[in-house]
Amino acid sequence: MPTTTTSFNHGQWSSRLAFILAASGSAVGLGNIWKFPYMAGENGGGAFVLIYLLCIILLGLPIMMAEVLLGRRGQQSPIRTMQTLAAEAKASRWWVLLGWMGVFTGFLILSYYSVIAGWSLSYVIQSAAGDFVGATQPQIGQLFSDLVASPQRLIIWHSIFMLMTILVVARGVSNGLELAVRYLMPGLVFIILLLIGYAISQGHFWAGMSFLFTPDFSKINTAVVFDAMGQAFFTLSLGMGSIMVYGAYLPKKVSIAKASIAVAGTDTMIALCAGLAIFPIVFANQLEPAQGPGLIFNTLPIAFSHMPGGLFFGTLFFVLLVFAAWTSSISLIEPVVAYMVERFRVTRLFACALCGGFTWLVGLGTVFSFNIWQDYRFAGKTIFDCLDFLTANLMLPLGGFLIAIFVAWVMQDEDVRDEMVMHNAVLYRCWNILLRYFTPLALICIFLRVVGVL
Ligand code: PFF
Repeated sequence: MPTTTTSFNHGQWSSRLAFILAASGSAVGLGNIWKFPYMAGENGGGAFVLIYLLCIILLGLPIMMAEVLLGRRGQQSPIRTMQTLAAEAKASRWWVLLGWMGVFTGFLILSYYSVIAGWSLSYVIQSAAGDFVGATQPQIGQLFSDLVASPQRLIIWHSIFMLMTILVVARGVSNGLELAVRYLMPGLVFIILLLIGYAISQGHFWAGMSFLFTPDFSKINTAVVFDAMGQAFFTLSLGMGSIMVYGAYLPKKVSIAKASIAVAGTDTMIALCAGLAIFPIVFANQLEPAQGPGLIFNTLPIAFSHMPGGLFFGTLFFVLLVFAAWTSSISLIEPVVAYMVERFRVTRLFACALCGGFTWLVGLGTVFSFNIWQDYRFAGKTIFDCLDFLTANLMLPLGGFLIAIFVAWVMQDEDVRDEMVMHNAVLYRCWNILLRYFTPLALICIFLRVVGVL
């Protein structure tokens, strides 16, 4: 179809930007600001960060390109995309299970994601009410303990966040939220930079820097590698079809590699900056870096309680954190909703209400795991820990592994080459070799090591 150069270029540019915004909206979320710092804290800092960065570059990026490629070629929801592409490659119909697993993983992740996003919502109100102003460090610690000890408060915030997610997804493609990503994400980066500035002025910045960037190789063990790998998949939203769905909107001419690098780069920068903002506060106040999921809620309010304009910046920070979580939660529920609408021809509202209601119910397990059920443990893990481990450490990497195998071994090489639009033959070869040999082998080795076979 004849198009003028200008309109073609314009279309291409805006769509590539739309993809980068939507995919970054999914990738940047609680995983960067809440989970990355506490995982780094629990796994000894620098050693974890080094392995995490290697996992992003060597496993995450190649798999992200493969997942986007699947979406762009299949053009539908993950389940249908896998059906179509398996038929095109004359492969087994069982590949559709990859789509199904993604839907189920998203549902499980959202059940606990919504509870943690609820903590952030509660902190918006607490910060705006001035609870942190002039508060001492033990008082701030108490505010967090009080919040998680109360099932009622957690249920209220979890319900509000779930409703927010359902409402947006029920209204269809979330133009409003895409706009929000465009303006609010820079806002979030601004506040994180402000916190880093605060850390520099308080003099403990270098302690944070060296904790995050000086790897102590003696701390590297199987558990650290396993956690870093899981975190790389979680933070990039890989292995469950979210990125595949967004790939469907990417115009044919756009370079998948460049777009993926932009998304992974943004995501990694935000996580590292969050770490740099948090650890100086941890060391300045003699807090425990390995305190787990409460880390940011116990540390950042200390900075907001002392800095000028802390009430304003603190409130704004938690508002932006809620938005970051919101744009991610939408991408978690969208595959299930899309599938229900496709398959059962129900309205979006009905599908959202049903999926959201069910997810909400499962989320109660996470709510109670912080209080009345905290002593119920399976292999030493609470319900929340189990869900987190099952999804981030097992299901997402398994999804990523299958995506790599499908693109590198099952699809026809001409189809992959044609879809990838990578003009540099050497780079294409590198990506292909990584995906064909390195990525699957590395994932198998990590798993075998974890179960004690290697
Ligand atoms: N990447 C999101 C975060 O870092 O908060 C979480 C997430 C969203 C994981 C979507 C998986 C997903 F499909």
